[in-house]
Amino acid sequence: MSANLTIVEHPLVQHKLTLMRQKDTSTAVFRQLLREISQFLAYEITRDLPLETRRIETPLQEMDAPVLAGKKLALISILRAGNGLLDGVLELVPSARVGFVGLYRDEETLEPVQYYFKVPDGLDDRLVIAVDPMLATGNSSAAAVDLLKKAGATNIRFLCLLAAPEGVQRMQEAHPDVPIVTAALDSRLNEKGYIVPGLGDAGDRMFGTK
Ligand code: URA
Repeated sequence: MSANLTIVEHPLVQHKLTLMRQKDTSTAVFRQLLREISQFLAYEITRDLPLETRRIETPLQEMDAPVLAGKKLALISILRAGNGLLDGVLELVPSARVGFVGLYRDEETLEPVQYYFKVPDGLDDRLVIAVDPMLATGNSSAAAVDLLKKAGATNIRFLCLLAAPEGVQRMQEAHPDVPIVTAALDSRLNEKGYIVPGLGDAGDRMFGTK
C-alpha cells in the first residue's frame, strides 16, 4: 500500500492471527496469541534500531560487541486495548519506558477526547512506539500521535495487529512520518467502524467484556 506500511507476513503470525479471528477462540487463548504475535511485530518494528559497540570480555578474550545506542525507547499503550500488546513487546525490550494515552469518543462531535496522559520524560530523545491492536478509522491513533508530538516526540512508530485501509490512509495523511507495522491489512470498515473481516472488539475479546 505504501512505503510507510509494513505487513508482517510470517507464517506463524498469519496462523496465530487466524486463530484470533475465530469467534469461538477463548479469552485466555486470544490474549496469549496477541502476546505471541506482538513479539513478531516488535521484532519487525525494532529491526533497524541503532547500535554502538562496547568493549566486553568473553571468557576467552576481549571484543567490541554491539549494544543498543541512545536512550531507552518509550512504549506507549493506547488504552485500553493497547495493553494487550504491551507485555509481549516489553519481554523483548524490558528496559523500555512505558506510557499510557487514554482517549474516548465524544458521541456528539465524534472527536477523540483525552482522559489520561502519562508518558516518560525525554520523549524527544527516544524512539517512541505507540501500540494499539486495531487501526480502524485512525481517528484515535492520529489523535494519540498528535498528543505524543505535543509532548516532544519526534521519532514515532505505530504497532498494530490489524489495520483497515481507512485507518492507514488517515494516519498517513495526518502523520506521514510515522511508520506503521501490522500483521494484516483487512478489507474495510463497516458502518459501525469495525474492521471487516476483522476479529470483533479487541478490548472485549482480550478482557472478556461485552
Ligand atoms: N476496534 C476494535 O476493537 N475492533 C474493530 O474492528 C475496530 C476498532
